[in-house]
Amino acid sequence: MKLLFNTNFLYSPMDGVVAVHAPATVANMVCGFDVLGFAVKEPYDEMYIRFTDKPGVTIINLDAYNLPTEPELNVAGAALLAMLEEIPEPIGFELSICKHIKPGSGVGSSAASSAGAVVAANRLLNDRFSKQDLVRFAMNGEKVASGVKHADNIAPCIYGGVTLIRSIFPLDIVPLTAPELYVTIVHPQIEVRTADARSILKQQVLLKDAIRQWGNIAGLVAGLLQKDYALIGRSLEDVLIEPVRSILIPGFDQIKQLSKEAGALGGGISGSGPSIFMLSKDEATAKAVEQQMHSVYESLSLDHHTYVTTINDTGVRFVNQ
Ligand code: HSE
Repeated sequence: MKLLFNTNFLYSPMDGVVAVHAPATVANMVCGFDVLGFAVKEPYDEMYIRFTDKPGVTIINLDAYNLPTEPELNVAGAALLAMLEEIPEPIGFELSICKHIKPGSGVGSSAASSAGAVVAANRLLNDRFSKQDLVRFAMNGEKVASGVKHADNIAPCIYGGVTLIRSIFPLDIVPLTAPELYVTIVHPQIEVRTADARSILKQQVLLKDAIRQWGNIAGLVAGLLQKDYALIGRSLEDVLIEPVRSILIPGFDQIKQLSKEAGALGGGISGSGPSIFMLSKDEATAKAVEQQMHSVYESLSLDHHTYVTTINDTGVRFVNQ
């Protein structure tokens, strides 16, 4: 990604600017469609916000993705507009965004923009709103991106760690503790639009599949809380969504099989894809998994990026406070 200029040293708190890093997130966590997600340490977007005299929201792009700057069409803009609706005084925000998380990659690019914007704006407002309020505002960005308000990227981006979204109407977010986990992500350079990946899903499921799925969700949550890696591995199974969506992702079955043979606990589609993620107990295994991912996509001559990272317990991070 070519930056228009180096943003790292642009602002200090003296400028009245709040700077944040908003991390990528992995939604669904295989079996928990729309209800589980976790934040990772890398990649992340850089964002800078300050008050302006002009009421409303002004968006400045510092990257080369050419995302819309009209606030209603920009995911971060939509999130800030939702926040402004609950602020009685006339306020103007100027938000500068330098994206490193490629839009359409399946690792929560839109959520990072929306969540980063409202967390940073809230700091300008002396933390007037609760985290739950911020999730509510940021979900308006997801509506712009995918047509649906879902929180399984937004909530972990704001809370950090692994989160369970027991309900979105009303919002009921449960942060979960988890053992140390290494995350290997491969992003094949194809685009899968979340709206498309949702539109192909079946609206009805068989009871026997639902039973298997909720057994896995409960097993995964228990495995995380009890730090039981074997239970986590057994529970990373999705009988509802993955069979439908995986056909959109070249090499999916092979990557999954080779990653497990390399020692991964398990994994699957990251969010709505096309990225694939695998969880491992240690860094050496996570790197071995990365090699398997490279080998599959090299054999398919498919451009791709990989990340070996860990779960991010902080979520959106202030970098100049
Ligand atoms: N839960 C959402 C989906 C996440 O799978 O459609 C999208 O990133």
